[in-house]
Amino acid sequence: MNQRPHVAVVGATGAVGIEMIKTLEKRNFPVGKLTLLASARSVGKTLPFRGEPIAVKELTKDCFTGIDIALFSAGGGISKEFAPLAVKAGCVVVDNSSAFRMDDSVPLVVPEINADDVKKHKGIIANPNCTTAITLMALYPLHQAFGCKRIFASSYQAVSGTGAKAIIELERQVDQIVKGQPVTKEVYPHQIAFNVLPHVDSFLPSGYTKEEMKMEGEGRKIMHHPGFRASVTCVRVPVYRAHSVAVSAEFEKPVSVEAALEVLNRAPGLDVIDVPAKCEYPLPLHQAERYNCAVGRIRKDCALENGLCFWVSGDQLLKGAALNAVQIAEELLK
Ligand SMILES: NC(=O)c1ccc[n+]([C@@H]2O[C@H](COP(=O)([O-])OP(=O)(O)OC[C@H]3O[C@@H](n4cnc5c(N)ncnc54)[C@H](OP(=O)(O)O)[C@@H]3O)[C@@H](O)[C@H]2O)c1
Repeated sequence: MNQRPHVAVVGATGAVGIEMIKTLEKRNFPVGKLTLLASARSVGKTLPFRGEPIAVKELTKDCFTGIDIALFSAGGGISKEFAPLAVKAGCVVVDNSSAFRMDDSVPLVVPEINADDVKKHKGIIANPNCTTAITLMALYPLHQAFGCKRIFASSYQAVSGTGAKAIIELERQVDQIVKGQPVTKEVYPHQIAFNVLPHVDSFLPSGYTKEEMKMEGEGRKIMHHPGFRASVTCVRVPVYRAHSVAVSAEFEKPVSVEAALEVLNRAPGLDVIDVPAKCEYPLPLHQAERYNCAVGRIRKDCALENGLCFWVSGDQLLKGAALNAVQIAEELLK
């Protein structure tokens, strides 16, 4: 791999794309050249990188010539259509969508957990679902120490997880309510302002949503743990940025709070914030724009054998998307 690669961000104008550009800059990724790609609607816009305005170009079938690494975040349909073309042009694709995550020939990577899987790529590497990535940042170190059998979890997912339009929807609805105007809906099926929606992604015949089942499927692949089981309820909450997950985990081995804290305090990319007496625990408001995820409310589960409850919070635009993608690109240069 070229050590000063030509990098493309596909979906550069989106909620994740903008964070990818910022993350490449902040982490001093050795970008030789940056190409920003989006739909024809965005042609004419510029986005800043290292103090310079970069023009957004239209994503087309032949735009990948000369590009070494393409970070895709323009939705699954765009990834399915354009990622194979990018690979044909000699590019390595890091894909944020769900298009290739469960494909056996595509590594699915959280660098703190399975960085070595990057080496197995055949042109495409997948970035995991944001809620799964944030949960595993705390769960995987515990799994290594105590052997995780299964989890029961509920997520509290920020609107930016749905993209830039959903941030505008929450702002608009709050403004409408404050002004006593009728509330309008464009993104979610119900009002999201001052409400919570037990509905993220589309429903499956089982009654779970696709998002809810990603925890088990993607968790098994990332942790190399085919027996892992997860029963999850995903909930959208009126938070701008950073997802939180309440987890009850059951382990093979006995687990104590002290032993769990020892493990979690050593875990990479994770902060422990757990002083309930001082009202100190992870909050999405504080995790927004931070690279590390945070875990707290750690306690023995009173209803499970060898069970532990915890609350993990992390910026899903970063660890759940842009940061994780740039970390994968960093692995490619090693
Ligand atoms: N948001 C998150 O927290 C998060 C986390 C993990 C993964 N992801 C995944 O990342 C992807 C992007 O999510 P997002 O939240 O950033 O969405 P978003 O804010 O809606 O942005 C979508 C991006 O895709 C571009 N795009 C849409 N249609 C296109 C087309 N026909 N040709 C070229 N570009 C097109 C848009 O360009 P225009 O501005 O020109 O329309 C925009 O740059 C999705 O696959 C999502 O599942 C998101």
